[in-house]
Formats: sequence, structure tokens, C-alpha cells
Amino acid sequence: MKNNYKELIKQTYNFPQEGFDLQKGILHFNGIDLKKILDNYGTPLRISYLPKIREQIKKARNLFNQSFKKHDYAGSYEFCYCTKCSHFSYVVKTALKENVSLETSSSYDIDLILKLYEHGAISKDSTILHNGIKTDEYIEKIRLLQHQDFKHTITILDSVQELERITTQKLDKPIKIGLRISIDGEPQAAYYTSRLGINKRKLLELVKEKIQPNPLLELHMIHFFVDSGINDNLYYWGEFKKALHLYIQIKQLTPSLQALNIGGGFPIRNSLGFEYDYEYVVDEIVRNIKDACVQACVSEPDIYTEFGKYTVGESGAVIFKVIEQKQQNDTELWYIIDNSLMNTIPDAWSINEKFILLPINKWEYSYKRIHIGGISCDHSDYYNSEQLNQQILLPAFDDKYGEDPLYIGFFHTGAYQQAISGYGGIKHCLIPSPRQIIVDKDEHGNLIDYLYSDEQSVSNMLSILGYDE
Ligand SMILES: Cc1ncc(COP(=O)(O)O)c(C=O)c1O
Repeated sequence: MKNNYKELIKQTYNFPQEGFDLQKGILHFNGIDLKKILDNYGTPLRISYLPKIREQIKKARNLFNQSFKKHDYAGSYEFCYCTKCSHFSYVVKTALKENVSLETSSSYDIDLILKLYEHGAISKDSTILHNGIKTDEYIEKIRLLQHQDFKHTITILDSVQELERITTQKLDKPIKIGLRISIDGEPQAAYYTSRLGINKRKLLELVKEKIQPNPLLELHMIHFFVDSGINDNLYYWGEFKKALHLYIQIKQLTPSLQALNIGGGFPIRNSLGFEYDYEYVVDEIVRNIKDACVQACVSEPDIYTEFGKYTVGESGAVIFKVIEQKQQNDTELWYIIDNSLMNTIPDAWSINEKFILLPINKWEYSYKRIHIGGISCDHSDYYNSEQLNQQILLPAFDDKYGEDPLYIGFFHTGAYQQAISGYGGIKHCLIPSPRQIIVDKDEHGNLIDYLYSDEQSVSNMLSILGYDE
């Protein structure tokens, strides 16, 4: 049969392609026979292929180092793993095997750093960037690391007030700081300027009035992050150039400044037809920084990245069994899977993120337009379009109970999905569940309140993430 799913994929995309291959009618992901895994463990399941993480880190380093050579770039490249995209011990420890630096984003992240140190996965010479909004607890713990003699911690200030809060307690030795520049939103964004970072107009004044006069503050880094991603478009390059210009102005005032941190935002393959010229984009970043520094007669900075999704996204997949078909009208056929999409790939529901979707078996069957539905009661628990609003086509088969079922996988789901969906009780950016208070009325009608549960503890969170050991 020519009109089958396999031919459709071969004619539409370059297939097989990196990470995906069909062998004896079964999809293989990075060389893993998925049917074998399903037969061993059953569905639904998530799978993490750790070697991919190391490959991605090596790939990014090669791209920057090649471009440095080409442009005779004097600075160095520092790959920082941004823990928030997957805090699991098996992921962070895999990244650390490639000698990456780390970026933290909240108070509990510092406990995670201490655990990694306890486990011998990092040393006191490791570079650790403290990014994100600083609560009092977060500031306390950053201080704790500094007191324990972690030598290369850089606290990236997110606001002017943060500087005041960091310096209210007398510093007993100089600390390295960075400044995050706030980014202007894209034209269609819901706000004009991001809440994250310091307004561009206030930066120079802050440096001159508060940082330069204080001998205990060593300004080391300028940071910006365009959260819609490093895209080769006018908006990205516009924000990039504004940040670069500010870096140069501040460098001219402050010789200690040595690093430009361009944040995360490197994309991953979210469709079999995905195209992105990583080499060109990295080269443009390096060339632009080099040219601007030469023109302004300042030395070129070390370039830091905090790639999250890029590092772990492509290592993950989630696989379901189709448990039922429902033809709800002439044109709408639903495949009901054995879990919830909202609970397993929440970004698909909340920010309309797309993932590569492929069947594991039945590639020799003809295909049909399908809507995929989860078993939760929520009407939003569905997935029915691919990248660029393309409809979903999957193998069509007789829905005979007890027959070999169809299995489908969402691929490249390794970043953020578990934290955002609260796997086991973890939370996005390790922000703990708040304490829970119950209010009721007693038999006389008086209000009574009591504590149902305290704020989620660090030990609870780190235990779920595999740091008990
Ligand atoms: C400050 C900062 N750096 C890095 C990242 C990682 O971004 P991505 O996963 O898109 O690479 C984020 C994500 O929110 C971030 O807020």
C-alpha cells in the first residue's frame, strides 16, 4: 500500500532523521527500540535519553569555539546549565559531566547546589550564576554559599532594590555581581517592557552612583534574555544590539566588567520539518560582539549562555496508548489516550507549544486526520494541530478491543514539562507550595482557622528530584 503513514512521512519530511528511525515497522528514538520499552514498562511513560544532553552541550561549545577562531575572538565561552528546565539529579549530574557552570533561579536552587557539592558533582571552584528575583531567603542562601567559600558565584541583580537589599547587611568581602537588562516585548506582547531585569534607562546611573563607589561590589557581567528565543529576526537582533551597546557603555566606565550573558532561548526541533541555522546564528552573535568591541576599543567579553530547553528538551519523550476511538461527527475522529495531555505536556495547552508527534507502531496503515484527547474531564485536554497549524495525521485502524493497540509519542518534551505539571510535587523554578490555611465556622457560627499544611520543604522537593542518595 502506497498511501500509508510511512510513505506520507517519507514524502513530507527528510526521514529517517537525527534521533528518529523506523526499524521493522517500529519507531526508534535515538536508537532505542520503543516497542521493547513499552513491552517492558507499559504506558503511559516518560523516557529520558541522557546521552543527548551531553551531545547538545558539546555541539553548542563547538559552534562558539569555531566562530571564535574564525573571528580571532579573544574572550572565552562559558556554557551554563539553567537548572529550572529540569532539576532532576540524573539530568543535572549528566550536564555536569561536561563541566558546565550552573545558573540558579530561586532559594531552593541553592540547597540543590549544596547537595551537588555534598555528592561531589561540583566543587567550590565551580561557576554559579544567581539569576531570578531575589527573595530574602534566596539572598540569605547566596550569602551562605559565599561564606562557605564558593569562589565563583555571580549574583545577577534583577532590580535596583535588590542591590540595596544585598548590601544592607555589611559585606565582609568583595562579591561579584551582574546586571540584568530588561527587554522590550515583541509588538504583539501583552506588555511593553519585561518585569525581569533593570530598565535600560536606569542602568548607567546605577553603575555610576551605587556600584562604582562601593569597593565591595565587583561588576562582572551584563545579562539579557529574550524569552521568545534566539530567533533570526529583526526583533531579536534589535534587542541584542541594544544590550550590546549598553554593555560597551558600561565597560567603558567599569574595567572589571568582563562577561556578556546572552541567556537561554536556543530553539529545539519541534517538528520533523524544523529548520534553524545554529552555526549562522552563533556566528552572527560572535561577529557582532567582536565588531562592536573593536569599534569602541574595548576588549571583547567572555560570552555566557544559559541554554535550558536546548540542553535537555530533545532528550525526553512521553508515550501513550490509544485506548479508544470516538467518531464524534462526520469529520472529527478522536483518539483517546491513557493519560492527560494537560498533566504531562502542559505547555501544549497553556502556551500552545508544539512537540514532534509520531506513532510508535502501525506505520504501514493508511492515515487520517485525528484529534487527540486526554482522559481528564477538561475540554482543553486535547492536541489537534502541529507546528504552523498543520492538522494531525496518524495511522487509521480498526478499533477492535484487545487488538494490538496504537501507541503514540510526543518527542522532545524533556524541558520544563515535569516541573510545570508538578511531577510528584515539584514546582516550576522550585518555588514551594505555599502553606495552606483552612477557615471554617464552629457550631456557634464563629470563624475558626487552622494550618492544614506548612510551606513545602526543601527536603521534600529535593527528595522527589533524586537528591537523597
Ligand atoms: C534567566 C533565564 N535564563 C535562561 C532560561 C532558559 O531558557 P531556555 O530554556 O529557553 O533556553 C530562562 C528561562 O526562562 C531564564 O529565565
